[in-house]
Amino acid sequence: MDIREHGSGNAGATNTFRVLGPKAGTFVMVVDMLKGILAVRLSYLVPIYDSPEHITQLVNLQIGLGLAAVVGHIFPIWAGFRGGKGIATLFGMVLAIQPLVALCCVAVFLMILFLTRYVSLSSIIASIAFPVLILFIFREKELFYRIFAIAVALMVVLTHQKNIARLLTGNESKVPLFKNRKN
Ligand code: G3P
Repeated sequence: MDIREHGSGNAGATNTFRVLGPKAGTFVMVVDMLKGILAVRLSYLVPIYDSPEHITQLVNLQIGLGLAAVVGHIFPIWAGFRGGKGIATLFGMVLAIQPLVALCCVAVFLMILFLTRYVSLSSIIASIAFPVLILFIFREKELFYRIFAIAVALMVVLTHQKNIARLLTGNESKVPLFKNRKN
C-alpha cells in the first residue's frame, strides 16, 4: 500500500502508526532515524577531520551529510518527491551530532505530547526548542550549526503547514495515548 493515500497522507512514522499500527510505525521511525544517524556517521570516513583542530570542518560536514538525508526524506526522488516531514531523520541526525541536545528535544516533545496528544504540535515545538537550546542554553560556537538550528525550526514549520491549518481549525487527530482521558 501507499501510506500517502491513507490517514494524514504523510509518509512518516506517525501516519504509519495511525494507519498500520505500532509495529510498522516503530519500524518506520527506527529506519527514518537511522538515515539521519548513518548520514552523519559517514563523516568519520574522512580521517583528516577526526581531530580537535578540525572540529569546524567536521561539524559542517556532518550537518551537510545529515541535511542531505533529511532533504532526501522530504523530497524522495524515487517516490515523486512526496516524502515525509523530516522529524525522525532530523532527530537521528542531531542525536548523532549532539546527543544531549537531542535528548532535551525529546523531553520537550514528550511533555507537549503528554499535555496535548498532538504529535505534529509536539514536533513543531520541539523543533523550535532546538535553536533555543543551541543558541541560549548550550551556547554553540559553530556558526554553521547555529544557522542550521534556526533553519530546522523554519523547515519544520514549513513541512507542517497542513498540520498547523488542521490544529487551527480543530481538525488535527490526537494520538490515543491515554485511554481513560475524555476526547
Ligand atoms: O512527524 C510528522 C508528524 O509531526 C505529523 O505527522 O501524519 O500527523 O501529519 P502527521
